[in-house]
Amino acid sequence: MASTRITELLGTAVPVIAAPLGLGTTPAFLGAVAAAGAIGFVGLTHPPPDEVEARVRAVAEATGGRFGVNFSLIADKRENLRRAIDAGARIVSLWQDDPGPYARIAKDAGALVLWTVSGPAEAARARDLGVDIIVAQGSEAGGHLVGLTPGLVNIPAVVDAACGVPVAAAGGIADGRGLAAALALGAEAIWLGTRFVASRECALHDGYKARIVEADPGDAVETLLYDIGWPDSPHRVLRNGLIDAWMRAGCPASGARPGEGEIVGRQADGTAVPRYHIQSPAVGFEGAFEGAWAEMALYAGQSAGLVRDVPSVAEIVERLMLEANEAAGAATRILR
Ligand SMILES: Cc1cc2nc3c(=O)[nH]c(=O)nc-3n(C[C@H](O)[C@H](O)[C@H](O)COP(=O)(O)O)c2cc1C
Repeated sequence: MASTRITELLGTAVPVIAAPLGLGTTPAFLGAVAAAGAIGFVGLTHPPPDEVEARVRAVAEATGGRFGVNFSLIADKRENLRRAIDAGARIVSLWQDDPGPYARIAKDAGALVLWTVSGPAEAARARDLGVDIIVAQGSEAGGHLVGLTPGLVNIPAVVDAACGVPVAAAGGIADGRGLAAALALGAEAIWLGTRFVASRECALHDGYKARIVEADPGDAVETLLYDIGWPDSPHRVLRNGLIDAWMRAGCPASGARPGEGEIVGRQADGTAVPRYHIQSPAVGFEGAFEGAWAEMALYAGQSAGLVRDVPSVAEIVERLMLEANEAAGAATRILR
């Protein structure tokens, strides 16, 4: 049992949070995260409002009620937030754009609010907005990026600016050494994406997981390339053949890129995915050609360079705690 203000607020046994992972986050994945004593978040930005209630109920059932909901505020998502709260969601994570109106709706309903900030300037606003937990995303993170500086600087800077609001650290963390380091820098939990993509229960494509296992830290690059469905938003992905082809073509603007307009394949539910779309390949993806999945957005942080296998969620959480204790002990022995 490892107790911090964040574990107490979220009702977890360990200071570990699984980020929303697009189609990888299923009720079964979140159930495994909750069973391991942690908590995960399901993204509810994209589903139509009519589907929100069913998704929240399925996740609540799979997790025994220990889950959070996440909204990227790239358009007006207040209706989705209201529906999620009506369906029983009580932990709400927000990022991108102004979280103020959303934080008010969530707080009025008695929900906890998390806000993923870009750095200390936003952290200083958090208390005024009623934010309960700040997520400090470093610029080495996977997926879409708000963080401006790497975690080693960002975490303590956000902690100092947070006026006592507890901070969870995101980006660059994939093992217990990272957990121990984040705690030493003043964070009270870690928020992991890439490490949990490469877990058995995550419902993303096996080839995508294998690419994470093979990657070096520098293979996870920042780009604006995957912009269909979410334009002008920087994101970190594994460098792949499509990025190379686009660079060879002289980095043309959207609308004039190699193969633009073609469908690269279909997800398991039949949804067609155009080239340069924001979706990653999920379990059941059928490519329109050999290796199509590898051209899609393989979101990953530089922490991919620390991921060497695809274990169960339970094993990941257990290792994180064991390794963090070892790393903290080693540091203490040196400092004594
Ligand atoms: C596949 C994937 C999907 C993501 N989707 C979201 C999302 O929908 N909402 C969000 O707040 N963050 C999202 N993120 C970013 C994470 O919240 C987090 O900041 C990041 O994963 C931390 O860096 P790490 O990948 O090195 O652990 C995503 C990350 C990945 C890898």
